[in-house]
Amino acid sequence: MDAEKFSHYKTCIKRIDDEHFCIIELIEKIAKCSKNNDVVSGKRYIKELLDLKNIHFFEEERMMEEVNFPYIKYHKSEHRGIISTLQQIDIDFGIKTINFDDKLTMMMLNHIDNYDSQYVPYYNSWLASQK
Ligand SMILES: [Fe+2]
Ligand SMILES: [Fe+2]
Repeated sequence: MDAEKFSHYKTCIKRIDDEHFCIIELIEKIAKCSKNNDVVSGKRYIKELLDLKNIHFFEEERMMEEVNFPYIKYHKSEHRGIISTLQQIDIDFGIKTINFDDKLTMMMLNHIDNYDSQYVPYYNSWLASQK
């Protein structure tokens, strides 16, 4: 994804933005493997994506707890939903014909846009109160 398009999805929390960027890059690699029928590499990138997602979600949930984010319960259930979708994609990859690129990209970008963006103001006021 080019920098201009990605800037729309920035939370301005560096670690979170860096991880989001890596996640999108991995999704692009998975899409390429899907197009080229490269199941071995595709599955390897899906595993990498699952590992990164688990680390990223753990970090976000820790942050949301720290800043007493009121919608954490729902946000956590969204995270669990994404993990199970990814696990299903891991099973289906190479077997079913799915547009992995669209499915993964939309799932990821919608989550950043609709859910991750919600905790940012809570994080920023928490940060300001720490000074
Ligand atoms: Fe999230
Ligand atoms: Fe996120």
